Amino acid sequence: MRRDPYKLFEHLGCAGRDFLGVQYPILGGAMSWISLSPLVSAISNAGGFGVLAGGNMPPELLEKEILTTREKTDKPFGLNMVTIAPNFQEHLEVALGMNFPFLIFAGGLPPRDAIARVRKTSSRLLCFAPTVGIARTLVKSGVDALIIEGSEAGGHIGPVSTSVLAEQILPKIKEVPVFVAGGIGNGILMVHYLMMGAAGVQLGTRFAAAAESPAHPDFKKALIKATSKDALPTAQFDPRLPVIPVRALVNEGTRDFNTLQLGLLAQIQRGAMDVREAAFKLEEFWLGALRRAAVEGDVMRGSVMAGQSVALVRSVQPVERIIRDLVEDGTTELERILKVCSEP
Ligand SMILES: Cc1cc2nc3c(=O)[nH]c(=O)nc-3n(C[C@H](O)[C@H](O)[C@H](O)COP(=O)(O)O)c2cc1C
Repeated sequence: MRRDPYKLFEHLGCAGRDFLGVQYPILGGAMSWISLSPLVSAISNAGGFGVLAGGNMPPELLEKEILTTREKTDKPFGLNMVTIAPNFQEHLEVALGMNFPFLIFAGGLPPRDAIARVRKTSSRLLCFAPTVGIARTLVKSGVDALIIEGSEAGGHIGPVSTSVLAEQILPKIKEVPVFVAGGIGNGILMVHYLMMGAAGVQLGTRFAAAAESPAHPDFKKALIKATSKDALPTAQFDPRLPVIPVRALVNEGTRDFNTLQLGLLAQIQRGAMDVREAAFKLEEFWLGALRRAAVEGDVMRGSVMAGQSVALVRSVQPVERIIRDLVEDGTTELERILKVCSEP
């Protein structure tokens, strides 16, 4: 007999489940160029919580994407906006104008005025917290939930691993739901973070390879072939250039990034460019490089952003199957632990 899939979340992660209004507090982390209506609606329709990636989308396109997603699902989904993106303010206008219910601010510390604006509406706001101190500040400023994302994750990453962030932040922050992201590829790890007090989990890499993901077939093939040691963070050659590390499969694009970094450093040294402009050029590189791999399928020169959990991506699977496996494997793990604990 198939186990009741709801049972697991009756005991664990129920705060996240109720906060998001979903069956399973499993978020499909926003991925630029990939987290579009097909993938986002599939995750929400399967009982999880899809998140649209605002990225650098023109605002009118973002509005269209939200409407298209709403046509494909009547379930809740979120919108991820990058606070350092040039069109962040316009994205915020679109979201607030549409009474969008769940907003996620990514990309550095969220501006206070933007938080204050969201607080005046009925929208719920989730923000990333890289330290306990910042988590506390965000809670005080009225953020409704937090996401902690460790360095195992794909894409732009912080310096601290998911497990260490979880052991530092989960026991300390009880006022709001805290979701955990980075390196989660199966239900076993998911259940352990839930037992530590996580309100839910966020996965990116596994969903990038899902059947409904609009990523190019060659992008998905590259994920399936890769092992964890292929997904490495980029290096920073000089502290003067603020490089936010990006975890991606090492390829010729990695070399291109290094060449760009050295060129920008030389220009900074000559006084031909300021640091802000150089940082903008680096971010521009990543958006273009991800597009090249995820949309055009150039997995040699483009950026195949992927987390260490890429080793757990072994085939293209429908979203419904990925979520079912997470829940079933999590349930099996919980039963194993309960059995061990009840043994005399
Ligand atoms: C290809 C790719 C693109 C991503 N793009 C974004 C993004 O645009 N905004 C964001 O907040 N996070 C982005 N992320 C991070 C994911 O939302 C998610 O938090 C992360 O992938 C979780 O770790 P995992 O890859 O180990 O599952 C991206 C991740 C990947 C793999």
